[in-house]
Amino acid sequence: MDGNTRNDLSHVVDADRAHVWHHLSQHKAYETGEPRMIVEGKGMLVWDQHGKEHIDGVAGGVWTVNVGYGRESIANAVRDQILKMNFFSSTAGTVPGALFAEKLITKMPGMTRVYYANSGSEANEKAFKMVRQIAHKRYGGKKHKILYRDRDYHGSTLAAMSAGGQDERNAQYGPFAPGFVRVPHCMEYRKHEQDGAPAEGYGVWAANQIEDIILREGADTVGALCLEPVTAGGGVITPPEGYWDRVQEICKKYDILLHIDEVVCGVGRTGVWFGYQNYGIKPDIVTMAKGVASGYAAISCCVTTEDVFDMFKDDASDPMNYFRDISTFGGCTAGPAAALENMRIIEDEDLLANTLVMGDRMLANMHALAEKHPVIGDVRGKGLFVGAELVTDRDTKEPMDEKRIGAVVADCMQQGVIIGATNRSIPSKNNTLCFSPALIATADDIDQITDAVDGALGRVFG
Ligand SMILES: Cc1ncc(COP(=O)(O)O)c(C=O)c1O
Repeated sequence: MDGNTRNDLSHVVDADRAHVWHHLSQHKAYETGEPRMIVEGKGMLVWDQHGKEHIDGVAGGVWTVNVGYGRESIANAVRDQILKMNFFSSTAGTVPGALFAEKLITKMPGMTRVYYANSGSEANEKAFKMVRQIAHKRYGGKKHKILYRDRDYHGSTLAAMSAGGQDERNAQYGPFAPGFVRVPHCMEYRKHEQDGAPAEGYGVWAANQIEDIILREGADTVGALCLEPVTAGGGVITPPEGYWDRVQEICKKYDILLHIDEVVCGVGRTGVWFGYQNYGIKPDIVTMAKGVASGYAAISCCVTTEDVFDMFKDDASDPMNYFRDISTFGGCTAGPAAALENMRIIEDEDLLANTLVMGDRMLANMHALAEKHPVIGDVRGKGLFVGAELVTDRDTKEPMDEKRIGAVVADCMQQGVIIGATNRSIPSKNNTLCFSPALIATADDIDQITDAVDGALGRVFG
């Protein structure tokens, strides 16, 4: 980081402390201490206001900066595009909007249409509105319920929180929208907490719990099932064997649309373009955001099959028969311009292959740490998307308390390594360390991150 930038920062820190309301933050501590500010980034590294260097093990804190920091070619693509045409309402098309949609669809066989918005929450809201409108158009409004899963997260807006499976995230923000119905999680490590979970065949059993709820609610009232392919903030939950095949069978059987939330997994995180592609899933609706442009511009997409799209144009004589929705900033061209270049980088630098190799390394390193530190109860992951659940006792699987999880994260930060953790999401179960380094990570980067965890676990737990 250059010295001039660093020297200026006391005023900037004061301005931040005085006026910025940080996300997910209790601000009392900033009355006496400084908030952390991230001032510069390059590749896997970021620098704070004191010039301290950190390796970023979580791609911008929330699994976003998939191609790493400081990408000049994305900056140039955005600059060139916004000078030529920065915005026009998405009632009209734009050049990067058309070209990115075409490119994206080549990575998503079976899907055909891209609806642009700005955030993951908003993309999910679009999907929910589509489901509701289909219910009104085809089923007299009856088939309007949206199923969502315990521990999954779909965003911060009120409808997204109505589909939120994280009770601590939701606490104090209700009442929520009607017509959202929860189904149980599919977390094999904690199946002992679920009544009737079998020793064998847990994946099919967990999927069958969804069917039970559909039958309880009435299949003619259920329009869609919204799931993360790998649950992210709910604890990096990889699906158990047999789960997804059975989920798809159930959706088909009851004519229920399958909406996959790829906001975290999408665009390479798990070593394939989309997380659902690991499990042979054929979705009807896919939403994505974070990694689409790696945070170089705000963009999200709600992508559908042609069958879903057709339901919004089949009767042009009906003045209400189209998706009557708009997102003003869905018309910003910076998003698709950045997304196109982001995708080119992933292809040209073969980052999916790197993600698989480095993901295996990270998982192997974490399994090795589990041999050494009994506090690690479970290690889960897919590609560069890894979680380690900490427990006080491996036999009872009693979750480690959130404060000590925080101490591990803080120790790593002290060492110049940024890792993440589930926080204030699942009551008494915010005990998973989270790792999602950029897809450019090298073996040295991965080892540096897991070495820091090794040191932190040693210091915090002895
Ligand atoms: C799986 C998932 N869906 C949706 C969202 C919401 O995205 P955004 O914060 O862009 O609204 C998130 C954010 O963390 C997420 O993890």
